[in-house]
Amino acid sequence: MGLSFNNSAIDDLKSQINIVDVVGRVVALKRAGANYKGVCPFHNEKTPSFVVSEQKQIFTCFGCGASGDVIEFVKRYYNLDFGEAVEKLSEEYGISVQKNRFGKDREKYYEINKEAARFFYRAFTEQKNPGYTYMKQRGMEDAILKKFGIGYADEKWDSLYTFLKSRGYEEKVLLELGLISESKGKYYDKFRNRVIFPIINTSGKVIGFGGRAVGDAMPKYLNSPENRVFQKKNNLYALNLTRQDIGKEGFAILVEGYMDAIALYQGGVRNVIASLGTALTENQSKLIRRYTKNVVLSYDADSAGRNAAMRGIEILTREGCKVRVLHVTDGKDPDEFIKKNGRDAFLRLVDGAMPYIDYRLDAVRREHNLDTEEGKIDFVRDAAGVLKELSPVEADVYIRKLARELRIAEGAIKMEIIGNTTDAPVSAVQRSVRREKEAVRDALSPLEANILKTLFINPSLSERLLDFDQVISSTLGQKVKDILFELYGLNGDFHLSQILDRLEPEESEALTAALDNIAVCGNEEQVFDQCINTWQIQRLLEREQALIDRLALADEENNPESIRQLTEQLMEVQQEINSHGGRK
Ligand code: CTP
Ligand code: MN
Repeated sequence: MGLSFNNSAIDDLKSQINIVDVVGRVVALKRAGANYKGVCPFHNEKTPSFVVSEQKQIFTCFGCGASGDVIEFVKRYYNLDFGEAVEKLSEEYGISVQKNRFGKDREKYYEINKEAARFFYRAFTEQKNPGYTYMKQRGMEDAILKKFGIGYADEKWDSLYTFLKSRGYEEKVLLELGLISESKGKYYDKFRNRVIFPIINTSGKVIGFGGRAVGDAMPKYLNSPENRVFQKKNNLYALNLTRQDIGKEGFAILVEGYMDAIALYQGGVRNVIASLGTALTENQSKLIRRYTKNVVLSYDADSAGRNAAMRGIEILTREGCKVRVLHVTDGKDPDEFIKKNGRDAFLRLVDGAMPYIDYRLDAVRREHNLDTEEGKIDFVRDAAGVLKELSPVEADVYIRKLARELRIAEGAIKMEIIGNTTDAPVSAVQRSVRREKEAVRDALSPLEANILKTLFINPSLSERLLDFDQVISSTLGQKVKDILFELYGLNGDFHLSQILDRLEPEESEALTAALDNIAVCGNEEQVFDQCINTWQIQRLLEREQALIDRLALADEENNPESIRQLTEQLMEVQQEINSHGGRK
């Protein structure tokens, strides 16, 4: 998308806009040294960990890790894509952004698609036609048909062609858009006697069409071919209409078909999107992730639908989404279900949708006969394959569940998981298993101990720690922190002895030992700040490493756009590292 603007124009725009000004309109910012600080708009927090650097013209939240430049901020805050964000900024600041030739070209393609969509829409609405009759027969209401811009391509051979030709468009472009085809020097409309579903991106551009046969003609659906403005893998049907609803509801329902999306929308379930007749792609899950991380997959219950769900889970969880799966019970797809049973019944299915881990375990379970010892053993072996990918906390929960279900010792399942991963890198479960073996469970890191020590010297530092909550990450550390926050909240003060009183004996022993190892030299506030700084540098170094890894991948994939973005991010991170005095 960035390609439709030329890069120096973007730099130019950025150089004329102050990020502090843009952010400051929606986030209350306070000066803090060279930077500005505020409450992060991208995650829930009470104390500000959101920093805007006027000098570097970037924002970073040390709480949730959101970061980027002014365009990134506008993208995220207003749920826009890159082009929309650039447009919004350039309009508001009265700065014209020159689009490059590629961008202009695309505008023409969008224009033609829009003309075609209008042509189909008129054919659908202005006279009696089989397409409209068909959609009414399927229970669709006029208001919804209008909202989705549904149209009709008539059964003649050249209606659209003649129309677009009269508007002065060349065959070459119409062919590329897949609106017409050519045979023996003659041109024909590609869509004939079909209901037309315009596919519109989040910038409101018509990028392509799906055409459904009226009745049983084959193929059932005909879609625009891939072309420079239509890439199935980068877009989702209905997202242009439903992204606000997705934001409002806090999750998206992903269905397979155009009709499913429209029917759910009509039925009052509006946070819906559909893939475009292909398996869910990485880019589509990134697109979803911009609006929500919670996704309910609603695919058919047949084996194709189940496979699609499995793949969807894999792709979406990789982007950090929380996925649940439902299969409609009554009727073949969501469209039939909601028409038959109504909104509330569908929402009950949504409420009951299976978390993806259960779903995957369920699929494994189906393959085995749990009534036999052998079946059980095989099942645990396969289930271990699923569990070893989980975080320690998740794995722990599921190990317990499985142990109960199968009447097997938890330890046995853990062993199975370890046995299964001889060549794999150390998995979460392995770590958790190993950790349990260690004498001190999840001990304090030296950094944590250091910070806690300064807090015991000067309890009012608790207030500063609030900003950097996550620095305390061990189990013991968190327990200690919770207790001392509680005491501090009540009394504005606390003493080590009060905390020791509330810990288990081994815990207080571990805490005392850790604290004894540390001597705070000099001013405890400075020590505290140094610790936080060290921690921030650590996190930045981790981010740097992650970006380097991703860059290597992008390089392998030969993906120039990703490389550009990642390099940009990497430079920012490295600047940050330097500004924290890291890597001396
Ligand atoms: N699809 C396609 N080509 C086909 C069949 C399906 O591109 N020959 C895509 C379409 O995007 C369609 C989706 O796959 O919306 C799901 O297919 P299906 O479940 O058959 O679609 P429905 O929307 O349920 O179709 P309908 O209810 O109109 O039969
Ligand atoms: Mn259907």
